[in-house]
Amino acid sequence: MNNSLIIALDFADKEEVFSFLQKFNGEQLFVKVGMELFYKEGPSIIQRLKEQNHQIFLDLKLHDIPNTVKSAMKNMAGLGVDLVNVHAAGGINMMVGALEGLEAGTASGQIRPRCIAVTQLTSTSEAQMQNEQLIKVPLMDSVLHYASITKQAGLDGVVCSTLEAASIRKQLGSSFLTVTPGIRLETDNVQDQVRVATPQTARNNGVSAIVVGRSITRSANPYESYVRFKNEWEGVAK
Ligand code: C5P
Repeated sequence: MNNSLIIALDFADKEEVFSFLQKFNGEQLFVKVGMELFYKEGPSIIQRLKEQNHQIFLDLKLHDIPNTVKSAMKNMAGLGVDLVNVHAAGGINMMVGALEGLEAGTASGQIRPRCIAVTQLTSTSEAQMQNEQLIKVPLMDSVLHYASITKQAGLDGVVCSTLEAASIRKQLGSSFLTVTPGIRLETDNVQDQVRVATPQTARNNGVSAIVVGRSITRSANPYESYVRFKNEWEGVAK
């Protein structure tokens, strides 16, 4: 998991996914399947990606009562994915339920999927958080608090922005995973992301894994873009 580059497969259907993956000449990747794709294609898309030996982050961001999340996670572990997530706002009991479900659904001899929590979505501004969620503290404090209860619940880490990763790592230790989207090269279009950073900044901030979507998936040459991101992320001299 550490030092991974996760490609966000934000495509409409499986045809688009597999025509994109054909450009990688059989290279084993770490890919992220989100709600759009999973709700269209269902568990069969996971099966097909596993047949191609890719590692999988199933990004469904669960947030419900503990018993429901526990049962859902049992089914998700049964799919054999590597990483799943919840919203930390669901609370410690819900996160503990998620872990219990994952453990119950993991076949014997297999590794339990890692489980991370979303703190504050990167699309949420401080004003929005304070006015709509009535959380009257700075955004960073809320992120750190959610990260801290995530660790207390026994989860493996959080989804956060690169800018928050260094503080989380300092407070909660380097084995607590920080997975960060919003990654762009210096020359890239930022699109709708607000708090973006380069792979090199992510590396300098001690991020565990980066998630890259459109800069690779919408590139004229996806494989070449992937290699550029990977080299900068791994600190390989160009
Ligand atoms: O295209 P881009 O690189 O911005 O894609 C980032 C991916 O990470 C998308 O799949 C998006 O849904 C996801 N994500 C995010 N911010 C979060 C959580 C997930 O951008 N806080």
